[in-house]
Amino acid sequence: MIIDAVSVFPEMFEPVMSTSILGRARRAGLFEFHAHDLRDWTHDRHRTVDDEPYGGGQGMLMKVEPLAEAIEAIAAEGPRPHVVFFTPCGSPFCQATAERLATYERILLVCGRYEGMDERAYAFADERISIGDYVLTGGELPAMVVADAVIRLLPGALGDEMSNRDESFSTEDDGGLLEYAQYTRPAVFRDMAVPDILLSGDHAKVDAYRRADAIERTCRWRPDLIDAASLTPEERDRARTLIERYHGRQTSETE
Ligand code: ADE
Repeated sequence: MIIDAVSVFPEMFEPVMSTSILGRARRAGLFEFHAHDLRDWTHDRHRTVDDEPYGGGQGMLMKVEPLAEAIEAIAAEGPRPHVVFFTPCGSPFCQATAERLATYERILLVCGRYEGMDERAYAFADERISIGDYVLTGGELPAMVVADAVIRLLPGALGDEMSNRDESFSTEDDGGLLEYAQYTRPAVFRDMAVPDILLSGDHAKVDAYRRADAIERTCRWRPDLIDAASLTPEERDRARTLIERYHGRQTSETE
């Protein structure tokens, strides 16, 4: 896979893209990463990428011409990229989106700054992504969040292929539940003991315990996921009881 990013702060990416699992996957050739400086597509002495909004208003906007020229020039270098813009007005990012993005041969991550972009720049977007309902100072951190979620899905990126499966939000296998609690040594820390079943060596019991724990945690922390989770009728009854216990009567928050 090829991942390109265009930004006025291209230097933000290198430490993330060369560290830990992403760095190892990159050195192994699982993906190529190139950060491009948007100012390379300006034509004035000050390398201007922003300007005042027509009609007035707070702050500055990213100009359309450098963005358009950058996207066209980067696209002309190789396979046509799937172009993603980052904005709080985008579709909420989730694991299913990461899984879809991981299937493209090439993605181009376009990072805004300032108060936003000239709306005409979005004509060059295949999609717009938000990483949550809060406002950051730019699209670079969202682009790295998305790149991380995508790269770890590339075959071979994680040492153990299975660890992509039974995790919270994975759309494979877990039935849409949060992940069960996990423990490592020591068996007792201060007054906190690892549940006995996990020390029993009985794999069927361990699996049943973990399934029940995943349901319990989801009911407690993310009751909004329960409706879409795949549960047996008995599990759904249990989930209803747990949601009642943790959240009392159904409120708009738990519905
Ligand atoms: N740019 C600024 N805030 C953002 C957010 N929450 N998601 C994506 N891009 C952004």
